[in-house]
Amino acid sequence: MKTTIDKVHEHVGEEVTLGGWLANKRSSGKIAFLQLRDGTGFIQGVVVKAEVNEETFELAKRITQESSLYVTGTIVKDERSPLGYEMHVKKLELIHEAVDYPITPKNHGTEFLMDHRHLWLRSRKQHALMKIRNEVIRATYEFFNEQGFIKVDPPILTGASAEGTTELFHTKYFDEDAYLSQSGQLYMEAAAMAFGKVFSFGPTFRAEKSKTRRHLIEFWMIEPEMAFMDHEDSLELQEQYVSYIVQSVLKNCQIELKTLDRDTSKLENVQAPFPRITYDDAIKLLHEKGFDDIEWGEDFGAPHETAIAESFDKPVFITHYPAKIKAFYMKPDPDRPEVVLCADLIAPEGYGEIIGGSQRIDDLELMEKRYEEHHLHGPAYEWYLELRKYGSVPHSGFGLGLERTVAWIAGIEHVREAIPFPRLLNRLYP
Ligand code: 4AD
Ligand code: MG
Repeated sequence: MKTTIDKVHEHVGEEVTLGGWLANKRSSGKIAFLQLRDGTGFIQGVVVKAEVNEETFELAKRITQESSLYVTGTIVKDERSPLGYEMHVKKLELIHEAVDYPITPKNHGTEFLMDHRHLWLRSRKQHALMKIRNEVIRATYEFFNEQGFIKVDPPILTGASAEGTTELFHTKYFDEDAYLSQSGQLYMEAAAMAFGKVFSFGPTFRAEKSKTRRHLIEFWMIEPEMAFMDHEDSLELQEQYVSYIVQSVLKNCQIELKTLDRDTSKLENVQAPFPRITYDDAIKLLHEKGFDDIEWGEDFGAPHETAIAESFDKPVFITHYPAKIKAFYMKPDPDRPEVVLCADLIAPEGYGEIIGGSQRIDDLELMEKRYEEHHLHGPAYEWYLELRKYGSVPHSGFGLGLERTVAWIAGIEHVREAIPFPRLLNRLYP
């Protein structure tokens, strides 16, 4: 019977056939241990010379890394393996022989591995990371569907900037200028006025000349937008959502977290509610921690965010930033208009900002004033003003960066391994 590695627990004691690849191998005169992978997982195949025909044992000894094959054998329990099962092999059938596979079990440098990303994806660690990414995506759809949101897809080719003009990717749109989307937010605000609670999930682009462990040129963002929800309502939704995805990964990706040696005790603690600290208090905290140079009105850098996060054992919201360092659409605090009703959610363990969000300006006159201050005009922006002209309501939204969230949950060093084919400052291939 044909099966796959994720289903072997249903076949204990039975003879089954797997289609797969040889990930690694160890052999002596009498026994060969084949590390097999089939896309759904990894399993050890044990080939005992005395139990198979000569041809099979010779093939087991000769077969090269990443050759493809059909393997037939009996599934048995094995408490020592991460999977909990292994296969006692009866028969091997070579499909295609791989010659000189470049990624060997020895250590390779990051650049070499990145150049071979199309093959590196097959490795145990990368496989675990992509499974965790998939679980975060799956749990995201489940969470927002259960909460009554509908998914709305904003365009990728746009005429406007949502987050500032310095990081826009320019392209020609026939005779016009176009830009790759930095954020779908402006469109999601239109969608919220049509459907109430909406979310998007898609690629976004930032021509940022940053080369840090947190920055990608192309990354995926989840952007919910909610009519009739204020800043506080939005924070509550955010902490529920982040708790939900972390707990889903803990529940459904145990093998992967083990493969990555992730300390899961730190994740178990990630349950709503999350602590909140105002920008003002964050500045004070930084001064206490010896960051004497930062002054009110300046934005936080990675070291500041890490220092703030260290004071908490869960993700922490930093709220009420100065208006002048945030986007044009954020609603001023009515009691203190120099700050806005916004929050960044900072992940623990130095992973930095994973969510940026705010209540939006719903007043037409104030938005017109912001347009003047930010020199926004023309057909790319006129439609957005009309949302404030026809039945404007209080509304809020946020954007969660998928790769930063996956990097944090998986406990990896750099966001480049949290996306299948990363686009980085100096990397467009593979
Ligand atoms: O804080 P940002 O720029 O917020 C927005 O784009 C809002 N319009 C979202 C909204 O309210 N609908 O980006 C949101 C998140 C960040 O918190 C971060 O997680 C991620 O997107 N992000 C990046 N991830 C990887 N590489 C980059 N260069 C990123 N820039 C932002
Ligand atoms: Mg931000």
